[in-house]
Amino acid sequence: METMIAVEGARKYYRVAKRGKGLTAAVGQLFNRKYEIKKAVDDISFSIKRGEIVGFIGPNGAGKSTTIKMLSGILYPDAGRVEADGFIPYKQRKQYVKNIGVVFGQKSQLNWDLPLIESFELMKFIYRIPREQYEKNLRQFCELLDMESFLGQPVRQLSLGQRMRGDIVAALLHSPELVFLDEPTIGLDVVAKEKIREFIRYMNKERNTTIIFTTHDMQDIEKVCNRLIIIDKGKKIYDGSIEEIKDRYTNVKTIEVLLENGGKETETFDVRRTSVNAVLERIFAERRVKDISVCEPEIDEIIRDIYEGRLRLDAPSAEGGAL
Ligand SMILES: Nc1ncnc2c1ncn2[C@@H]1O[C@H](COP(=O)(O)OP(=O)(O)O)[C@@H](O)[C@H]1O
Ligand SMILES: [Mg+2]
Repeated sequence: METMIAVEGARKYYRVAKRGKGLTAAVGQLFNRKYEIKKAVDDISFSIKRGEIVGFIGPNGAGKSTTIKMLSGILYPDAGRVEADGFIPYKQRKQYVKNIGVVFGQKSQLNWDLPLIESFELMKFIYRIPREQYEKNLRQFCELLDMESFLGQPVRQLSLGQRMRGDIVAALLHSPELVFLDEPTIGLDVVAKEKIREFIRYMNKERNTTIIFTTHDMQDIEKVCNRLIIIDKGKKIYDGSIEEIKDRYTNVKTIEVLLENGGKETETFDVRRTSVNAVLERIFAERRVKDISVCEPEIDEIIRDIYEGRLRLDAPSAEGGAL
């Protein structure tokens, strides 16, 4: 399969004004600013093939949005190479954007005062979308995302879920081959999330659109994509499938404790380091226990434990994906 995205040793450093405390420091800083370097993306490499759908996850501030901005040509990398669809995004931006669609869930591209449909018409004009293609896409997308009822409403009156669906359609009406979605489900209710997931799956399966999206929601990943890239503090810490991550943690168990006072506690641990017996003994010594069960952890728990440093991705990977 053809390579769609190649990122090699990409870095993005921000210069942030250092802040001292107090008035003297504030006045001093007016004349003598001190800066700190924030390594938002710190030597990241990966490649993505045409037709892949990849979930990008990581805790807040991990560097997800910065990576998406470099991929979409909004930012240039300070070092390394970023190539997508045969273009150097920030250098050939004008040409490149004709082939991509970008959605930032936190920031709408729609005109607040216009009815939603008019923002779509504007896209048709900007991208010179042929009439037939525009109408076909509009009809199909609106049906899939269940949008007919609010097409005529000004964007400011839409709910967050309606607005997000509008943003996604606006970004895809020109049938881009490559799509970046940065937190397209943030803040949405379960129903709206599910609609968006279905739509993303559809675009990938039926139209072979290459899709990269970032999310906080592991359900998004489990339901939509096979491949997962995890980044933390600007570094890639995992690149592989969800199955593989689960396989690596077959040694990890979760003990669920039901307390006599009605409370519930869970503890996740690695059976290679701690025996189940030892954990049980400690729990019984410390708590009044009503019931106890040992289970495989949910993927959300594994990921949270990785972020919080309780689990390490130290097992070798088949593909050598993890660093
Ligand atoms: N324009 C900016 N100026 C300075 N620092 C920034 C800027 N944008 C992001 N950062 C910092 O870079 C890091 C990565 O940010 P970001 O890519 O937005 O992370 P994520 O999307 O994973 O939450 C964070 O520490 C953030 O505070
Ligand atoms: Mg972000």
